[in-house]
Amino acid sequence: MVNYIEAAAAPTRNTGVIRLHTAEDFEGMRRACLITARCLDALVDVVKPGVTTDAIDRFVFDFGMENGVLPATLNYRGYTRSSCTSINHVVCHGIPNDKPLREGDIVNIDVTYVVGGWHGDSSRMYPVGEIKRAAQRLLEVTHECLMRGIAAVKPGARIGAIGEAIQTFAEAERCSVVRDFCGHGVGRLFHDAPNILHYGRASDGPEMREGMIFTIEPMINLGRPHVKVLADGWTAVTRDRSLSAQYEHAVGVTADGCEIFTLSPAGLDRPGLPAA
Ligand code: MF3
Ligand code: CO
Ligand code: CO
Repeated sequence: MVNYIEAAAAPTRNTGVIRLHTAEDFEGMRRACLITARCLDALVDVVKPGVTTDAIDRFVFDFGMENGVLPATLNYRGYTRSSCTSINHVVCHGIPNDKPLREGDIVNIDVTYVVGGWHGDSSRMYPVGEIKRAAQRLLEVTHECLMRGIAAVKPGARIGAIGEAIQTFAEAERCSVVRDFCGHGVGRLFHDAPNILHYGRASDGPEMREGMIFTIEPMINLGRPHVKVLADGWTAVTRDRSLSAQYEHAVGVTADGCEIFTLSPAGLDRPGLPAA
């Protein structure tokens, strides 16, 4: 049994009900997500061989300060950084460190700013210098998975339609979908109902309704789907050490589809790949 509620009428914690947001709420998300997208745009010129993920994380913090906003990940459930930086076989939640990026690496940078109480959550993959063909293909497949998932968003369809679109395409491309992490409702809360699985069937899950806001953030592996979390309690890696990629957008369900809040104003949604 699924419940829906007007966002403003629900308590500000994840109670499992799915919030339906107003036009004003959508405006709040647009503002938050634009700042995140502008930071991800600016990072295109920051990411290069020799740069550390600590320096990237500092850039994300400073970019927030210049815009008067804080990263949501700072002190979130014990996480103490402004971004997640996930390199090569790291699936997600990589913790920035002092190791320089190397030519050929692929790195996901995941940023969430809180702007007027709204959470702008998005991530992109950044190639470091020249990357191998297999890595390039994984990035292309993963971005296409995200966009196919987004194309399945419309009122009346079930949330499972998103997962089916993603899984069908990923597996046809001989890649696998990570099961251990999912997209999520987002808005005044960083992580809210519903969960957005990146696999499954179109008949699964609750119906989408106008006003819902959530992320889609598929993690796609070149090898097998299985992951493990390292002793730091955060870093998730592929068990077979195969390459993993992820792109994330925040979207709002509209009368006839959805609005992507986190689109790049500069057209840099897939850095290093030909424009989609
Ligand atoms: N931004 C991530 C997401 O897409 C969440 C990161 S939580 C952290 O949901 F604590 F790891 F930073
Ligand atoms: Co997210
Ligand atoms: Co994110």
